[in-house]
Amino acid sequence: MPTPYPASTYDRDVVIVGAGPSGLAAARTLVARGYSVAVLEARDRVGGRTWTREIDGATLEIGGQWVSPDQSALIALLEELGLKTFERYREGESIYVGPDGVAIRYAAENFPVDQSTTDEIDRLTDILDGLAAEIGASEPWAHPLARELDTISFSGWLAQQSDNAEATANVGMFIAGGMLTKPAHAFSALQAVLMAASAGSFSNLVDDGFILDKRVVGGMQKVSIAMATDLGEDVHLNAPVRSVEWSADRVVVSADGGLSISARQVVLAVPPNLYSRISFDPPLPRRQHQMHQHLSLGLVIKIHAVYDQPFWRDAGLSGTGFGAGEIVQEVYDNTNHEDSRGTLVGFVSDEKADAMFELDEDERKRVILASIANYLGPEALNPAVYYESDWASEEWTRGAYAASFDLGGLHRYGRDSRTPVGPIHFSCSDIAAEGYQHVDGAIRMGYRTADAVAALLEEG
Ligand code: FDA
Repeated sequence: MPTPYPASTYDRDVVIVGAGPSGLAAARTLVARGYSVAVLEARDRVGGRTWTREIDGATLEIGGQWVSPDQSALIALLEELGLKTFERYREGESIYVGPDGVAIRYAAENFPVDQSTTDEIDRLTDILDGLAAEIGASEPWAHPLARELDTISFSGWLAQQSDNAEATANVGMFIAGGMLTKPAHAFSALQAVLMAASAGSFSNLVDDGFILDKRVVGGMQKVSIAMATDLGEDVHLNAPVRSVEWSADRVVVSADGGLSISARQVVLAVPPNLYSRISFDPPLPRRQHQMHQHLSLGLVIKIHAVYDQPFWRDAGLSGTGFGAGEIVQEVYDNTNHEDSRGTLVGFVSDEKADAMFELDEDERKRVILASIANYLGPEALNPAVYYESDWASEEWTRGAYAASFDLGGLHRYGRDSRTPVGPIHFSCSDIAAEGYQHVDGAIRMGYRTADAVAALLEEG
């Protein structure tokens, strides 16, 4: 692992702010093309929103972990780095908790709801698949429907499409609680379409066999650790960047500990909600100042519960459960590769997370485990290890999983979200097209930004 660097000032071709997957992918690409880089990371570790940790003897994925088959940039990088993947356990029946709070086992593809609700979910899925295919992930703001879809909330749009509350709650869950981790009234239908398009289709997002397909043996943070190890002493930990002084062809980037790097280009590989933590001299343009205030991270608590055995498997259950009205809206088997213990992971999103954080720690744990037990039975109440990932409390992230625009922001500002300002470039999963919000999108943005920076460096 790289170590903190002594206080100094020196020159590089490019300085990269942030040693998450995006910044490290950009740095790796630039180094491979013969450019010198320095990566400055605020935390005492690399990986950003990917973090594989030992908690009470259990190895847990505190942040991003799953890989889906469309995430070709991530899959190719895993191969390049020699990292192996394994499949999520998904044999047996799943559980659906409907509006009446009753848990029902089901084996088919569709939720066990009445026929009219199934038909309505299928119809809404078709509409969203159609919009995602037509609008796409690259430039949703450029589509003729952009303004119309961006000025209505996703919940408002769903209510316009259907009066079947169970159908709209289920469809809403996959994008609101499941991905953007904001209430469906807080973001637009266009933002929901972008989310679907970035994963290939809405159908892909609702297919847990697709979107939550594989995990990395040893943990997703290994991707960043491997890239950082190759970069060696060019990665500086405990180096929060505080200021960027820039002109048309030069930047001086200064971090804590007296470290200053003078470079020709800088890549800000941090989530957009953190840009304003850095002082820019001269200030960023008006448009960036405004745009960045309309991008915010959602809120989700990722729950980890480890048991001596994966007890649900003996009952013929996959460990997968969905319930739009439950405190824990989704639960999955998250057992580690070749681990005899059983691990469950659950997610508590947006307003439900607000409610949970109103409770004291013991009561929160009790309520959350009771919700998991509603899916999988009373044995879920007593895990050997219990842990809550709370990214909103992390100074250098402040939410999860990633950023999205507020109502109306995507069509108004989206076209400038990736536009550089002089020698300042922006790179992170939060502004990706394909792989938006995911590690794959972070890596794609890293490559894309490195290409743009290299082209400028070549121009001289
Ligand atoms: P990231 O946030 O990872 O890295 C940015 C880095 O910049 C951080 O290391 C930060 O410390 C640093 N930084 C910030 N400000 C700085 C400053 N001023 N100076 C220096 N450094 C600074 N994805 C996926 O593909 N599959 C999944 O299953 C999940 N699940 C998931 C669960 C949870 C709980 C979370 C939080 C996230 C996910 N994700 C995910 C999302 C995925 O983890 C995320 O999209 C990527 O990590 C984003 O990578 P970036 O490099 O863009 O930012």
